[in-house]
Amino acid sequence: MSPRLLDVRGLSAGYRGIPAVRDVDLVVDAGEVVALLGPNGAGKTTTLLAVSGLVDRLAGEIAVCGRSTAGMRPAAIARAGVAHVPEDRGLFARLTVRENLRVAARRSRPPIELVLDYFPELAPLIDRRVGLLSCGEQQLLAIARALVADPKLLLVDEMSLGLSPVLVERLLPLVRRVADETGAGVLVVEQHVDLALSIADRAYVLRHGEVALHERGEVLRANPQLLADSYLGGPRAD
Ligand SMILES: Nc1ncnc2c1ncn2[C@@H]1O[C@H](COP(=O)(O)OP(=O)(O)OP(=O)(O)O)[C@@H](O)[C@H]1O
Ligand SMILES: [Mg+2]
Repeated sequence: MSPRLLDVRGLSAGYRGIPAVRDVDLVVDAGEVVALLGPNGAGKTTTLLAVSGLVDRLAGEIAVCGRSTAGMRPAAIARAGVAHVPEDRGLFARLTVRENLRVAARRSRPPIELVLDYFPELAPLIDRRVGLLSCGEQQLLAIARALVADPKLLLVDEMSLGLSPVLVERLLPLVRRVADETGAGVLVVEQHVDLALSIADRAYVLRHGEVALHERGEVLRANPQLLADSYLGGPRAD
């Protein structure tokens, strides 16, 4: 059995003591791509932020690589192997591509070759300032930057925001490749539900801060109505 990289049990998390997600159970195993889906405001971003320690956990347990993250600061959670690509991409616009990669790298020298193997488009841009890159190039870099930290668990929030569908179709398989080749677990929040399901082993649908559906990707690919019902508040399937 592949090791459990993320184990979320009964999680409630939110802002100023008010939960935005409630009683969430969610797991990610090594080499898995798990999609976290749901309508706007459902709590997807809050869930990722809670895993990274950036939003208060009000109840429940979060374990990364078998170790509880209770009481750990975000930097310690990152060191434990969690890399987070946030909605706004979190890049340093005034630094170059190379400098952004260096800042994130765990070792003194980032394995830039490895990154360029995944993202050959970045090679000619390596000494360009990030503020001068296109949205698509910045998103490539945001994922590349997460990879040089050599994560065990990769969290990706709305990778496709502001990108053309063509680029999203190119990026999502890269996420699959990361899971397949590095054994990392990937939890991906994505608006393009069909594209997310095309690479996901399993998916969770959040609705009003609660898990409305948890199902294997192949089941959802074969039964799109199941997903539509969960968005609209259909019968709970677990
Ligand atoms: N900083 C904040 N302070 C207070 N409430 C917040 C904050 N951020 C989010 N919320 C609330 O928490 C709930 C969940 O928001 P969240 O951003 O996690 O949803 P989401 O599923 O990521 O939505 P979207 O698809 O729009 O990105 C929403 O009701 C939102 O208004
Ligand atoms: Mg969000």
